[in-house]
Amino acid sequence: MSDWLVAPGPASPELGEKLAKALNAETIGLEYKIFPDGENKVRLLTEVRNRRVIVVQSTYYPADSHLMQLFLLCHKLSEEGAEVYAFIPYLAYARQDREFQKGEVISLGVLSHLLRSIGIKSLLTIDIHSTRGLGYFTFPAYSASAIPLLAQHVKNNFELSNPLALSPDYGGQSRVQAFAKLLDLESIALKKVRDRVTGEVTIEDNIPPLDGRDLIIVDDMISTGTSIQRATRFLKKNGAGRIITMCTHALLLGSALDEILASGVEEVVSTNSVPSPASKIDVAPMIAEHYRSIESS
Ligand code: R5P
Repeated sequence: MSDWLVAPGPASPELGEKLAKALNAETIGLEYKIFPDGENKVRLLTEVRNRRVIVVQSTYYPADSHLMQLFLLCHKLSEEGAEVYAFIPYLAYARQDREFQKGEVISLGVLSHLLRSIGIKSLLTIDIHSTRGLGYFTFPAYSASAIPLLAQHVKNNFELSNPLALSPDYGGQSRVQAFAKLLDLESIALKKVRDRVTGEVTIEDNIPPLDGRDLIIVDDMISTGTSIQRATRFLKKNGAGRIITMCTHALLLGSALDEILASGVEEVVSTNSVPSPASKIDVAPMIAEHYRSIESS
């Protein structure tokens, strides 16, 4: 048995179990309840004094409730004398990492203060929206990259014709370049312009002729699926062949998955940072490696 204990939060029971198995660690006993008015209750059933506990809690929809569960759980563990390591596979509020319009709150900065105040020792997430966001944390905070896992999945599962890797926006350029390098592919980024007031998105016509080439769209996250649908329609109109979509976090709100498939995407593949029908890549072995390296340091 390893030194670690794992606390699978209510948002990530399966991933929590997988991580515990990968680390050969025990999981701790917990009870969760949501009251009719939406309030959360957490009860700790295991003695944790002087133990190192990894809390696994992704903060996908409903983000605020999942965050509150995380705060309650981490606070209790810390109060009971555990050293608390928060593994938040999908980190909510990471997109608001600057004041895009005057007067906006930098939500990620606030989240960082809250996490510090409940006594966590370190934070690990996967593919934070922008690594710049890590600068808001005043305690050790890391973002592991799932890009090698996404690339390996393509290698193992798809036979594509002269594929091109593509980011649906310029912000994802370094991500898609890293992905393409691992597969020895060319990459491009679409120029997506989002109106920050109306939210309306347009794509500038800046791509080379596609002539039936297969495409792999790579993004950090899919939420409503609007960005992927727009990109897909644009690419199909410009002569794309098959289109596969890879992302780290598949939030896939409402009917997003059906709509993406209806727009012309053949398959959506993501990691299991958020549970969804697209979650085909397990991050547990990679995350276990991260904690093992802490153990041995
Ligand atoms: C944007 O910068 C992100 O990388 C994603 O492209 C975006 O958040 C996806 O959102 P949606 O699926 O709602 O278009």
